[in-house]
Amino acid sequence: MGSSILLANIGVPGIRNLKAYRASGGYSAVEKALREMTPAQVAQEVTRSGLRGRGGAGFPTGLKWSFLDRKTDKPRYLVCNADESEPGTFKDRFLMDKIPHLLIEGLILSSYALGVNNCYIYIRGEFKYLVGILEKAIREAHQNRFLGEKILGSDFSLNIFVHPGAGAYICGEETALLESLEGKRGNPRIKPPFPAFKGLYGCPTVVNNVETLATVGPIISMGGEEYAKIGKGKSTGTKLISACGNINNPGVYEIEMGLLLDDFIYSPAYCGGIAKGKKLKAVIPGGSSVPILPADLILRTLNGQKRLMTYESLAEGEFASGTMLGSGGFIVFDEDACIVRNTWNLTRFYRHESCGQCSPCREGTSWMENVLYRLEHGSGKLSDIDLLVRVAKNIEGNTICPLGDAAAWPVASAIRHFRHEFEEHVKNA
Ligand SMILES: Cc1cc2nc3c(=O)[nH]c(=O)nc-3n(C[C@H](O)[C@H](O)[C@H](O)COP(=O)(O)O)c2cc1C
Ligand code: SF4
Repeated sequence: MGSSILLANIGVPGIRNLKAYRASGGYSAVEKALREMTPAQVAQEVTRSGLRGRGGAGFPTGLKWSFLDRKTDKPRYLVCNADESEPGTFKDRFLMDKIPHLLIEGLILSSYALGVNNCYIYIRGEFKYLVGILEKAIREAHQNRFLGEKILGSDFSLNIFVHPGAGAYICGEETALLESLEGKRGNPRIKPPFPAFKGLYGCPTVVNNVETLATVGPIISMGGEEYAKIGKGKSTGTKLISACGNINNPGVYEIEMGLLLDDFIYSPAYCGGIAKGKKLKAVIPGGSSVPILPADLILRTLNGQKRLMTYESLAEGEFASGTMLGSGGFIVFDEDACIVRNTWNLTRFYRHESCGQCSPCREGTSWMENVLYRLEHGSGKLSDIDLLVRVAKNIEGNTICPLGDAAAWPVASAIRHFRHEFEEHVKNA
């Protein structure tokens, strides 16, 4: 299961620079596309590859691109979502830091496929150190005629701009990101209209994640069909997973989709098992917004099947016993971790990051934070546990953007699977 596509060359000395990137085959996908393929053929290869968005939702990338309004004579935009603020997720920053030209190459190919001449990388405000790295890579690409007017002598021209945000988690939500890119407060927009019709400056826009776009180069090099042979079922290719928490080897790993989840946790090639020889208690496998699962359910589904690292397998289970691959932020808890404290901590984050536009999210996140604070600090009541469940239910599905769900799911799933810990906090206070 050891497939390395995105990170295959990160050990090459100087790979951050265009010279070393070129020497290891970089930009050959752009040469191939511009000399031998039409934009529609590039898009078709992405569809054939089965690539699904790596930003969290796993939406098929080729299908998303097919929605882009091509009938209007307005300009079209591609926006790369490099906001990456989800607790537990730190794979996009790794990619941009180690091999920035892979992203630039993906942006050129994707812009060519979509008929885009101006592309933006919206990057989280705290990633100041990456802005310089990306801007240097863009400069080098211009100097070598991979960017600018009439790229490599073709009729295709492209500029890429790096735009740092001010450091708000909500600006990772695609419509809040577009507001912020336009210079406004990053409040999510009501959808429809979707960005494919009315996105940046009211023009047709595609928003994709860093990892999604960085994968387009390898897909064009190897062909969509070959890429689709990697992975399992509808979860094709490889996925970057950032692993953290109580494990022996925290870090960023590229896995082939379909890897056994317990191999990922226990193999020395990945997490290397639970730190200090402790037992596994629970995992949040896809960034802080996805449901937490206890050890027995994260390793096996209710049907006793071993779980795989795929979109489908992680979601399996009756009575809401599944979770999500999400953005690949894999957070591991050992037997000593306190679920109540962790849930309180995550809820503090969501309360702080709520933009405040909708009452269920604005009021509900502070309410949950207050109740969790008293449970964690010894002044909770048993009735608080059901109160939390009710508040979470009233947020879920009742808000403008998915941050509401993202705040509700950690609380609801923690109580569903670890109610006894919440009760013990009241009884032992
Ligand atoms: C609160 C919130 C934060 C998000 N943060 C990010 C992020 O940092 N990076 C990202 O790619 N997608 C993020 N998303 C998902 C984006 O809205 C969007 O679905 C994604 O950029 C689409 O790219 P993809 O199709 O390549 O996955 C976030 C969504 C929500 C609701
Ligand atoms: S769900 Fe929360 S973050 Fe999203 S728009 Fe409503 S208040 Fe803002």
